Amino acid sequence: MDKILVHGGRSLEGDVRIGGSKNSALPILAATLLTKDRCVIDRVPDLSDIHYMLTILSQLGCEVERASGVVQVRAEKIRTEAPYEIVRKMRASVCVLGPLLGREKAAKVSLPGGCVIGDRPIDLHLKGFEALGATVTVKGGDILLEAKELKGARINLRGRHGPTVLGTGNIMMAAVLAKGTTIIEGAAEEPEVVDLARFLSAMGANISGAGTQQIEIEGVKELHGANHTVIPDRIEAGTFLVAGAIAGKRVTIRRAEPKHLGAVLEALKNAGFDLTQTEESVTISPNGARRPLHLETIPYPGFPTDMQAQFCALLSTMDGTSVVTETVFPQRFMHVAELKRMGASIELDDHRATINGVERLSGAPVMASDLRASAALVLAALPAEGITEINRVYHIDRGYEAIDEKLNALGAHIERVKV
Ligand code: UD1
Repeated sequence: MDKILVHGGRSLEGDVRIGGSKNSALPILAATLLTKDRCVIDRVPDLSDIHYMLTILSQLGCEVERASGVVQVRAEKIRTEAPYEIVRKMRASVCVLGPLLGREKAAKVSLPGGCVIGDRPIDLHLKGFEALGATVTVKGGDILLEAKELKGARINLRGRHGPTVLGTGNIMMAAVLAKGTTIIEGAAEEPEVVDLARFLSAMGANISGAGTQQIEIEGVKELHGANHTVIPDRIEAGTFLVAGAIAGKRVTIRRAEPKHLGAVLEALKNAGFDLTQTEESVTISPNGARRPLHLETIPYPGFPTDMQAQFCALLSTMDGTSVVTETVFPQRFMHVAELKRMGASIELDDHRATINGVERLSGAPVMASDLRASAALVLAALPAEGITEINRVYHIDRGYEAIDEKLNALGAHIERVKV
């Protein structure tokens, strides 16, 4: 198990290239199950979560080839049972349910367990599959889906904490081959949902409204192979902008999609950072006075829950009192105890963190608990005094391609140590 040592106090300067979006690539790879033809997906990031998805596809019978960022999948003959051993490693494995049900009218996939950011139910996905005509059974830890045929339906996917991103993707993937029209109300508006809809449309699906709260899908008989390039990862982009904010002289993210970063750019501007942008880049310079923030995570286009931990790190290093409210995953504050070990002053009250900025954090041994929480610890360590030792970094490798190397190229001093 690797650990990361961050030698704090170096300032960052330069350009960093953003990779393809993990959260887009995962359902898009699952969608290749919907056709017997070859699909070619470009800009697939090299991450352990992607590796798990490719392993699941192989075990379902797909031919999978990968050369640098390009993945080719041919799902000529497939099985409908995804093995527990792999599925249990990644919650996003549930996004093979929709395409398996759509194409084979059957699926058997292990029920994902809870994770540190909450119990993460999939009731809304299952409600949607039932509405399309599937029988849903949970037995022996597996979800079994079966249908004679799938029929279009009107489905509301809004839950207690808002819309569901993977749930919207799953229902779209099942509905593209259903008979008749499906209308998803309360759909997630995230750019990753739009990217998936673009890929499904390239395969011959008939989808309109992706990117709004209502998506309409007219079922077709068959889908064909397609080529697709995954959108830039907006969370990786946001994380490097926060790196620039917390420890930078001037950092430019390139090959990004600034349009997808609206709420994050606004928060950084409100906090007093200078931002300049082109169509595919954003430069952050830490000039001027800092202002504390009141942030609330909200489904897209609101401020993303996947950037909450990184902003907690940033706000811990800025003068004044900030308040961060988590509405999407109310329990997602595992990073707070670790940031406190580094000297941060944070009061947690239910789903709200009150952060009093301190002059300087100090390096400490800390534990990565989930993907974005780990990123927050790396960010907090950049300006900290001394060395921060971050254990369990496999969490960070799930979602960031070589974050240590990319930060080192900007001037950080990070070592990866095999334990
Ligand atoms: C996706 C992202 C994740 C991000 C999250 C919210 C991927 C691989 N992951 O996760 O990085 O943090 O969106 O932007 O794309 N919920 C239910 N019932 C359900 C499904 C969800 O109650 O059936 C709740 C969840 O517990 C949560 C909220 O709805 O409170 C949003 O979750 P959801 O959008 O489904 O998250 P994911 O799609 O799993």
